[in-house]
Amino acid sequence: MSISNILTNRAYSAYEARLRKEVLASPLPNHIAIIMDGNRRYAEERGETREEGHRLGSEKLEEVLDWCVEDGVKFLTVYAFSTENFNREKGEVEYLMDLLRQSLIKFAESPRVHDKKVRLKVLGDVTMLPEHVREAADYADEKTKDYSDYHFNMAIAYGGRQEIIAAVKTVAQKVADGEMDVEDIDENVLSEHMYTSDTPDPDLVLRTSGEVRISNFLLWQLAYSELYFTDVYWPGFRYIDFLRAVRTYQQRGRRYGK
Ligand code: IPE
Ligand code: IPE
Ligand code: MG
Repeated sequence: MSISNILTNRAYSAYEARLRKEVLASPLPNHIAIIMDGNRRYAEERGETREEGHRLGSEKLEEVLDWCVEDGVKFLTVYAFSTENFNREKGEVEYLMDLLRQSLIKFAESPRVHDKKVRLKVLGDVTMLPEHVREAADYADEKTKDYSDYHFNMAIAYGGRQEIIAAVKTVAQKVADGEMDVEDIDENVLSEHMYTSDTPDPDLVLRTSGEVRISNFLLWQLAYSELYFTDVYWPGFRYIDFLRAVRTYQQRGRRYGK
């Protein structure tokens, strides 16, 4: 490492420490939701394969879960694979599915997850998933089902519109069966029929990679969330970027007198 690199790193860690102190002195978002985008562009910029980009992306997720647990963010929900992502090339879908299976098993067996009592849940239409991913999801669910100190939700085979449709169908069936009146349908009823029924709405939704759109993520739940977009690609997302997002959330809250 060159002298100038060492100096830059030192300056960064001093800044990071200061920022962390500042951020931890104010209330943190209770629930952060992340659209983890930019794996392939990150890899391409470095002359790596897209698979390597996805692999680094899944490593980044482990780190970010750690930051949340360490700093006291109770709920983390990440967009790992959308219903639309099934339209990607077969080889890429297979690679991503295998990575997801590995991540789920790794999380389920991680000493840190058990130490910190992190409840792991998969949100999405699991019927669209290959058997091996479904088994890994069930395994993670089973291994962490008694925990409630922290919550980690992985949105896989997830689509916001599909989630709303599924909720509406279940509610409509209840009405058809005479279990419920049309007049009883309200926001609470629909919320209770979403995959996130036992999760508070996200306070902060963050997207990496410079794209400024929601791409069918948590459409129902983000009605009042603060939105934060950053240009860094997901595998390059640093703790400093995380702190900046949280600080922006805190500053906006103050501005509106929350
Ligand atoms: C996010 O990175 C991972 C998934 C959507 C599965 P991308 O694969 O979308 O990478 P970019 O956005 O094309 O760079
Ligand atoms: C959104 O990213 C989905 C995930 C991060 C899993 P995409 O890369 O799939 O979204 P678009 O295609 O840019 O909207
Ligand atoms: Mg993308």
